[in-house]
Amino acid sequence: MSSARVRIENLPDVTKGKLLALACDRSGVAGKEVGRIEVGGGNATLEVPAHLAARVARALDGSEIDGRRVRARVLTAGGGGASAGNAPPESRPFDRLRWLLDREREAEWSRAEQDLATANAKDLEERGLALLDLVVRDEGGGLLGRTIVTLEKRSGTLPPSRLGPGDVVRLSRRDPQDKENPTGVVLEKSPTRISVAFEDELPAFATSGPVRLDRVGDDVTFRRAREAVDEVERGTGRVAELRKVVFGERAPEVDAKPLRLEWIDPGLNEPQKKAVELALRARDLALVHGPPGTGKTTTVVEIIRQAVRRGERVLATAPSNNAVDNLLERLVAGNEKVVRLGHPARIAPGLREHALDALVEKTSSRQVARGLLKDAFALRSKLAKRRERGKGTDEDERREMRKLFEDARTQDEVAVRSVLDSAMVTLSTAAGSGHELLRGRKFDLVVLDEASQATLPLALCALARGTRYSTMLPLSSVPSSV
Ligand SMILES: Nc1ncnc2c1ncn2[C@@H]1O[C@H](COP(=O)(O)OP(=O)(O)O)[C@@H](O)[C@H]1O
Ligand SMILES: [Mg+2]
Repeated sequence: MSSARVRIENLPDVTKGKLLALACDRSGVAGKEVGRIEVGGGNATLEVPAHLAARVARALDGSEIDGRRVRARVLTAGGGGASAGNAPPESRPFDRLRWLLDREREAEWSRAEQDLATANAKDLEERGLALLDLVVRDEGGGLLGRTIVTLEKRSGTLPPSRLGPGDVVRLSRRDPQDKENPTGVVLEKSPTRISVAFEDELPAFATSGPVRLDRVGDDVTFRRAREAVDEVERGTGRVAELRKVVFGERAPEVDAKPLRLEWIDPGLNEPQKKAVELALRARDLALVHGPPGTGKTTTVVEIIRQAVRRGERVLATAPSNNAVDNLLERLVAGNEKVVRLGHPARIAPGLREHALDALVEKTSSRQVARGLLKDAFALRSKLAKRRERGKGTDEDERREMRKLFEDARTQDEVAVRSVLDSAMVTLSTAAGSGHELLRGRKFDLVVLDEASQATLPLALCALARGTRYSTMLPLSSVPSSV
């Protein structure tokens, strides 16, 4: 069985025996599971079976020993944090990517969760990382079963805080570390109220007393990056070809026949025209390199618009929301039929009318869904009131409420599908292209702007959405950093 080591720091003077007893007591792990113990200089390492390491670290991290708050973490294989001794070799690139992703995620999470574990509630609020003593003022139905919740402080205005649109927050009564509590994304904040979108219905405690919001780490990007690595490793057809090209097993192919193009943007210079032509002839992959400000995004926009003129569907991505908005702005100026995926809170306000959510709101299906949701929420609060008065609830009404929620969701799905189907260019961040909504959808061309800012797994996330019949795959602009 493989073992792992847990490192504990900031320890008071303790013996190995006392440390062993504490570790077992707090983690519930049996003493016989713990192997070698080293103690010295205020630090210690415990050897435990690999599957128990995280549990031991979590139990000790942030807890007090003789009045001192200790830190604990699982040591990465090979020993010291930075050493990559046990990382899979370059010859196994997918194992290596997964290994690196896991290390990165551990580091990010421990930073976010460390705050929750070590600081008390008032501290967190003063540092702007939490809002305490909130009450739910309003609850309504967002798209696809999301719940939009508006919260207020019981005592007047909200204190200054760093929680803002786009941040991921956890709603809890007392224990923000409890991962059972729902997480959502902040939509808006005013001096007196904050609104948050949750993926599901809220648990009952949320509306029956004060709650708090805490900023937490965002796990979605890591999950999508990992899924992309798995998908490209196992993929067949076009994805297998992409894998060979990206990992250097075969050279990308280009159509020999030159293209005669009518330029949409009359201002392109010769190198830009050459890049567009090459990209449109590429069967697999084309790269556009150049220092910042030399016209790469302008070139990419022409490539996208030329592809659309050929009747192709394009997925246009970039690592950051800003860079995606930049592409969106230029495509909108060119009157292309676009849809921008992503949380509205993370899209530039002037471009939100092109967001999937906004376009869906205008469909008739969504209008029907809104009506159904209104009835569903009315029925829900009626049932809740009856329950509070100690009266039983009618099973028929409960069933009706569930049916209303389900029907609304079905209507939303129809609306979303119709909006996605009608766009020629779909825009999202590279991580966003791993969204469930795009599952099963393929594009004739995938573009990744500002590719040098993307990690390989996130680039793969976007590129893997390219179709098997595409005459070309991704085009990527790589600003030189030299
Ligand atoms: N052929 C061109 N002639 C004149 N201006 C151009 C040309 N190509 C790009 N530009 C302008 O140069 C600026 C930088 O272009 P951009 O495409 O954003 O560069 P990059 O993506 O390489 O940073 C923009 O203001 C753009 O309008
Ligand atoms: Mg650019």
